[in-house]
Amino acid sequence: MSHQATVKPKLRRTPHEEVGPMYPVVKPVDRGYDLTLNPKNGERAQGQIVYLSGRVIDTNGEPIAGAKVELWQTNMHGRYDHPADPNPAPLDENFEGFGSAVTDAEGRYAFKTVKPAAYPASAPGWWRPPHIHFDVESDYSRLCTQMYFPGEKLNDEDFLIARHRKIGDGELIVAKPAPLPAGAEPDAVALTFDLILNARLR
Ligand SMILES: [Fe+2]
Repeated sequence: MSHQATVKPKLRRTPHEEVGPMYPVVKPVDRGYDLTLNPKNGERAQGQIVYLSGRVIDTNGEPIAGAKVELWQTNMHGRYDHPADPNPAPLDENFEGFGSAVTDAEGRYAFKTVKPAAYPASAPGWWRPPHIHFDVESDYSRLCTQMYFPGEKLNDEDFLIARHRKIGDGELIVAKPAPLPAGAEPDAVALTFDLILNARLR
């Protein structure tokens, strides 16, 4: 007989979203921490710099070391660097819309990126709020989700966010303000966002 079902997790799992059609077809060669630097020419991406960091933890609150964290997003104009993106907004050749990292012993990850913009979605009148897609993989669990920015008006009109708010998970997908790192750009923002995966069954 298993007693696994009697162990109640301490935390709610971060809500799942589909991978969606904008997962990169071609990933940048440089998959490091900084999405805002074009390694070919040393130029910087356009837009407001976002220092994004957080932890990958499980539903017991334990850090997950060695988890693979991938993220992808639009540039400051709301355009994905993806051949299937129907949005006519401009591309930014200096912005890498994809990053990948591996969590440290405390489950931490960090990226330097720019704030993505809203873009028109599949239904008339529906604009996706600025968001960042995540795909996180531990040796036990996997989570695909989307992170939103605090205080965005469009957050209150978004169909996908509404689904999570309805069951009390709305706060789990919105990043929180964090202290800016030393030497940050004048208009930069810092955010923290934890990703909570299912705990290993014992
Ligand atoms: Fe998206």
